[in-house]
Amino acid sequence: MDVLVTGGDGFVGRHLCSELLDRGHDVTSLSRTPDPSVLPSEVDLQQGDVTDYDSIEDAFEGKDVVVNLAALPPLHQPPKETSHDSVCIGGSINAVEAAEQHGVSKFVEMSSLGADPNGDTAYWRTQGLGEKVVRYSELDWIVFRPSFIFGDGSETFTFVRRHTTPYVTVLPDGGDHPRFQPIWVGDCVEIFADGIEDDAYDGEVYELGGPEVLSFGEVARMLYEADGKSVEIVPVPMVLATVALYAVDPIPSIPLGVDQARALKMSNVTDHNDVGAFGYDESDLTTLSAYLRGEQRHRPQRRPVPSD
Ligand SMILES: NC(=O)c1ccc[n+]([C@@H]2O[C@H](COP(=O)([O-])OP(=O)(O)OC[C@H]3O[C@@H](n4cnc5c(N)ncnc54)[C@H](OP(=O)(O)O)[C@@H]3O)[C@@H](O)[C@H]2O)c1
Repeated sequence: MDVLVTGGDGFVGRHLCSELLDRGHDVTSLSRTPDPSVLPSEVDLQQGDVTDYDSIEDAFEGKDVVVNLAALPPLHQPPKETSHDSVCIGGSINAVEAAEQHGVSKFVEMSSLGADPNGDTAYWRTQGLGEKVVRYSELDWIVFRPSFIFGDGSETFTFVRRHTTPYVTVLPDGGDHPRFQPIWVGDCVEIFADGIEDDAYDGEVYELGGPEVLSFGEVARMLYEADGKSVEIVPVPMVLATVALYAVDPIPSIPLGVDQARALKMSNVTDHNDVGAFGYDESDLTTLSAYLRGEQRHRPQRRPVPSD
């Protein structure tokens, strides 16, 4: 198949492009500032901005499947020149339109656990609306909603290290929130690629989580312990952290604010993990601690088990 991956040189995209190449597909990555250093040379790099239809249209010609990964991370407020609305909703509208105009048969939308058109933060609200754009299109579609994805190049690891310190760190509610169900990027891209290849998965929303539920504090502790450092967490009341984040919201040089305060209270855990539809049991998946010990699994080929 000929597959276009928007955001193909981002964290998830670079792993997915490699998985698709390994499976024998032709792969094109589209992003605003293509980075050849993070992708195999066989990936065709195209420059374009999903918020600008004319800049992306040509990349869709001749493609069988589009995977839409272009997005802004929820960890920080977006820079002034862009927004979750323009990238996630406007970008999905443009990508779906280009796919329909250029005879693409299938559209795979990367959303996120917690996506909700009435969500509390711009990230989750626009992910929910982006999903709707895809689901009401004329294309065959799949929506994936993963929890926090971890692996080599994860921005979340950088975020945790930037906002905590080894040995002693101060965290709202002692780091008990938010809670995640981290899933390894290597497991994720196998599931994504199965969904891309097999039409039996079409027309469904799949929530994906890993084998364990971890809090922000537990993730921080595990990251530092993997570096051989301990962490003593000193709790501060959630209300103080909330007030501080609301206070810095208007300050452009601090990329944190109201949405990050709201995200602190969210639970990013699924109550119906759909990994089983792809032949996985939750317990088959790589845990964060196994990954940090360098023990991620390389399992034999699975037989996909399409959902009905
Ligand atoms: N990482 C996670 O833990 C996680 C969890 C759940 C869901 N997801 C979802 O998975 C998808 C990929 O996440 P990620 O972690 O790989 O994100 P990422 O590392 O931030 O990569 C985002 C990609 O999108 C591109 N992009 C951003 N704005 C664009 C625009 N206007 N036009 C074209 N390309 C644009 C970026 O390249 P340029 O900046 O050069 O354009 C980059 O290639 C997102 O939809 C995200 O919400 C991620």
